[in-house]
This record gives sequence, C-alpha cells and structure tokens, in this order.
Amino acid sequence: MFDPNAARAAFCLDPDWLTLNHGSFGATPRAVIAAQQGWRDRLEAQPTRFMTMELPSALRSAASQLAGFLGADAEGLGFIENATAGCNAVLRSLRFTPDEEVVVLSHGYAAVQKAAGHIAGGAGARLIEVPIPFPRPDTAGLIAALEAALTPRTRLAILDHITSPSALVLPIAPLIALCRARGVPVLVDGAHAPGQVPLDLTALGADWYAGNCHKWLLAPKGCAFLWTAPARRAQTHAHVISHGLGQGIVTELDWTGTRDPSAFLAIGAAIEAHAKLGGTALMERNRAMARAAGALLATRLGTEVAARPEMAGSMAAIRLPGPGTDIAAMACRKRLLAARIDTPVHALAGGLWLRVSAAAYNQPAEYEALAQRLPALL
Ligand SMILES: Cc1ncc(COP(=O)(O)O)c(C=O)c1O
Repeated sequence: MFDPNAARAAFCLDPDWLTLNHGSFGATPRAVIAAQQGWRDRLEAQPTRFMTMELPSALRSAASQLAGFLGADAEGLGFIENATAGCNAVLRSLRFTPDEEVVVLSHGYAAVQKAAGHIAGGAGARLIEVPIPFPRPDTAGLIAALEAALTPRTRLAILDHITSPSALVLPIAPLIALCRARGVPVLVDGAHAPGQVPLDLTALGADWYAGNCHKWLLAPKGCAFLWTAPARRAQTHAHVISHGLGQGIVTELDWTGTRDPSAFLAIGAAIEAHAKLGGTALMERNRAMARAAGALLATRLGTEVAARPEMAGSMAAIRLPGPGTDIAAMACRKRLLAARIDTPVHALAGGLWLRVSAAAYNQPAEYEALAQRLPALL
C-alpha cells in the first residue's frame, strides 16, 4: 500500500517549497544518496585500486542492471552524465554534409536543438523543424507531420520521447517505425522517459536512445545513459575521446577520463528505490495524479490541458490565461519561484503553459494549494 507521507519522508525536500517540478532535475531519495556515498567511500579508500581494479567490472555490472530495467542489452549501454551529452555524442559521430537535413520536433529540447544546429549546421546541413499540432495532438496528426518533413536528404531524425515544454508522451514506436521505413536513422531523446513510462528499448528499434536516470528513475544527478543499436556501435563515439577510442561506443563511454562514477554505480539502489515506491504502480499513480492535477488547474483557470489522455504521463501542461511570450514566461516563472513555488512556464503556440509534475513525494493537496495561490501570482 502506497504511503504518501512515508514517500515524502524518503526524500530530502524542503517542506517550505511547493515542489511540483520533478521533471527538470528529479529528486533523489536519501537511500540512493547513501548508496552513492558508499561508492565514493570505496573509491577514496584506495583510488588506484578502485579505478583500475574495481571500477571496470562494477560499471559493467551497473550497466547490466540498468539494461534489464530498460529492456536493452548491456553491450550497447554506456553511462554518460546526462541526456544532453548523449545526444552530443551521437551528433558528433556523424559526418554531415551540406546537402543533408536533420529533422527535429518543434517541442524539442532547446539545448539538443542547439547542439544539432552547431554540429550539423556547422557542416552546412539544415535543421528541419516538424511542427507538432498543438494542443492535444493525436497520433495520426503527429505521424503525418513527421512524414511531411522526411526527404531523401534526411540524415537523422531526433525525436523526443516525452516533450519538455508540453509534457506530451509521444507515440514513439510508430514514429520510429516511420523513420526506419524511410531509411532515416533515429536518435531518441528520452530524457524524461526512464522511470516515468515502461520501456523496452530493443523493441522500439531506434538507432540511439539517450535517457536520464536522474529524473524519474530517482538516481543521483549525473546518471544517464546512451544505448546504441548493434549496427551503430563501431561508428558511434563518446563525447570525450579517451583511451577507448575505436573499441566501440560502450568501451569509449566507460572511460572518458578521471571522474566521479558514484552516480552511475548507484543505479542499482535507484532501481530498487523506484521499485519499493511501486515501480510500474508508481508510474500509474503519478500519471493519474498528473492527469487530475491538469484537469483541476485547467478548470480553475478556465483554460485547457496540452495532452490527450493517451499522450499524458507524470507531467501535465496547462495553458495560463491570455497570450504569452518567452519574456512573459520567464517573468511568470520568477514570480512563482519568489513565492517558493517550483513549476516551469513555457511560451508555446502564442500562449503560456504551466508544467506540473507528479512524483512519488507529491500529493493531490499540493495541486489544490497551487490552484488557490495561482490567480494572485499570474
Ligand atoms: C527532452 C529533454 N531532453 C534533454 C534534456 C536535458 O537533460 P539533461 O540536462 O539531464 O541533459 C531535458 C531536460 O529536461 C529534456 O526535457
């Protein structure tokens, strides 16, 4: 039986804040932080012994645990500090030419789009933005929008599994299948997916999948992964070139220079903490809570939610009244933060959208509190 108060107590969160933004940086249970500290203690007891004799097998064993959770094979799974780094590694591994195109989504994560613009654009390739029908897109509309953007010049499609500003859980399997049918390699930016939605990476069939464990899988900050399909493993390189160059992406990622690997090694503890909080039942509980929160806020504000139920996950985006720009979104966000309310605001489709998260430590009363305080803050 899920105990919301015990769940809250498992985290270090400041009780003076309304923390409804698990999506941005996650939050890590105390038990996982303790496990991470245990790995740091082992490292510092004899750094050379740890780095040279213990770390290689400990990392591979952690990768096997994560691979099991993701429905992937550990031979294609390397740890990396964050999803941004994973996307950079893939982009830097491709040699773009001026006649090529990289397809991105209009709700794609800005940092990843900048990386694509810098790397592919720097070689003369063009970024093609797929306009996501918004709000409340359906699968057919999304497929049609992506299909219209693919051409014989498309070298890569970067697809967000769960969009950041609009919190849409995209129908990633048919979108990947469409790209594959057109012979277009796919990089999935799955920053929000692990721990929020069930995953089976092998079945999805993308060429690369970059995901964060430090958001919804409750791992310490700096725990993420890049999974690479077998056919791509020899040609994909780490974002940092080091001793493993040319030995396959996983060997390259396993050593990118001296760093603190404790966040990676704590993945077993994170998977255990996620399971103890309910595992798939936790995902369902959070999803239902986010959906109810979205409906409550949209009703109180007299507006609408961004996602149809089939594309809703553990976050909900709700339109704020009136028009909106990036500057207005930033000002609104600052007012909320000054009131110790953590919920991001984005400008999309001419309006402002508030994104609330529903994590293990959240309770329905928090969205009611937000609904009551919002009008004075808007
Ligand atoms: C879709 C998407 N991609 C990438 C990222 C970047 O994650 P990180 O900062 O861990 O690299 C985010 C962060 O929220 C995101 O929403």
